[in-house]
Amino acid sequence: MAPLPLFDVFDPAFRANPYPVYDRFRQADPVHRGRPPTPGLDGGWWYLFGYDDVAYVLKDPRFGRSIAPMLDEPPPPVPPEEREPFWDLYARWTLALEPPDHTRQRALLNQAFTVRVVEALRPRIEALAAELLDGLSGGEAFDVVADYAFPLTLATICELLGIPRDDHGRIKDWSLTIAAVLDYKRTWDVMAEGNRMALDFSTYLRGIAAERRTSPRADLITRLLAAAGADDRLSEDEVISLCAMLLFAGHETTVNLISAGTLLLLEHPDAAARLRAEPALMETAVEEFLRLHSPIQATSRYAYADAVIGGRSIRRGDSLTLLLGSANRDPAVFSEPDRLDIGRRPNRHLAFGRGIHFCLGAPLAVAQGGIALNCLLERFPRLRSGAPEPRWSETFGFRGLSQLAVESR
Ligand code: HEM
Repeated sequence: MAPLPLFDVFDPAFRANPYPVYDRFRQADPVHRGRPPTPGLDGGWWYLFGYDDVAYVLKDPRFGRSIAPMLDEPPPPVPPEEREPFWDLYARWTLALEPPDHTRQRALLNQAFTVRVVEALRPRIEALAAELLDGLSGGEAFDVVADYAFPLTLATICELLGIPRDDHGRIKDWSLTIAAVLDYKRTWDVMAEGNRMALDFSTYLRGIAAERRTSPRADLITRLLAAAGADDRLSEDEVISLCAMLLFAGHETTVNLISAGTLLLLEHPDAAARLRAEPALMETAVEEFLRLHSPIQATSRYAYADAVIGGRSIRRGDSLTLLLGSANRDPAVFSEPDRLDIGRRPNRHLAFGRGIHFCLGAPLAVAQGGIALNCLLERFPRLRSGAPEPRWSETFGFRGLSQLAVESR
């Protein structure tokens, strides 16, 4: 067999179509020791391509997202003015924590994201989708990403938290900056922009929090503040960080589900026809879109202890990149993994992760994706690809379309 190429997540050909590269590594070197994805990082760096290995690491407490368990003693406290604003905001995100802080935050958030809360949101998501589609019905062409998926998911999460409509555009800009910083290609310019954004975003959220404290409303910010007030289960700084996390995580990835789902339906008119005739099939179709084009292609873990994975020795302190997008096309788990099967059952994809960090917003994302795609198919029976060609975004960990032109008449 020909030697493996360098695994380079910034190679434009890889970003345009990562799946053939995943296949080669999954077969030839599924636990691959490679070069760190972000220039400047060092230490042992592993890339995991197979489903079982990725699922194993996600569930095993010897691997985690916080650096703290790897330190022999806690680091000396850094005065607030010396902290980098971006990492200061991010450090209190649920996704960045391990137990016991993770357990405490997650228990509070789980109360806010029950199935009942999501079900109650359904009519509002349908109304928002209808409103946007009304606006698009007059024309002949539009961009699914900018004109439909983004405004729909942004409005949903902003309304849930209680962000005024006039400010949705700012939340979108801040979220795009967060995605750029959290992605693997992080330049100094991106980091500087991230620090400016974190200061502006925190100041903005503190203003909203101050308003809600004096005039509470039926929104999530008010509920989180109430939780913070009750026996200090959440600090004020945590409330601000969690709001930023939810506003970011609540739409960026769901946009990618809706736009990639639309692309798959444009490429498979037979599947679109089946869904138009039987919209209830959308339940399994959405899971299949998530499997085939996972909006989060990769996530990372630190090894807190030595471990052997796939016969390779991982050392305490090593970093691992788990390729969810590769695991989700592993032929050992999914028959004909590259084929779209909108009725696929079972479909135990890892697009929402596994273990303690399993996506908090999964029920909301699935509900939104299904409603958005069913409404789109119903409204435009002649929907087809437009010009220019679909374009994939520059980021790698967050993979999605930055543009998807369609014709609607
Ligand atoms: C299609 C849409 C979405 C996808 C593909 C997705 C994917 C993921 C993945 C893979 C993780 C786990 C990362 C890891 O273990 O390293 C995660 C965690 C998380 N997601 Fe999502 N997500 C989506 C939508 C949402 C929405 C709508 C929200 C909020 C409303 C949300 C909030 C979160 C939070 C808070 C976490 C961290 C949970 C924890 O650490 O316990 N996500 N998501």
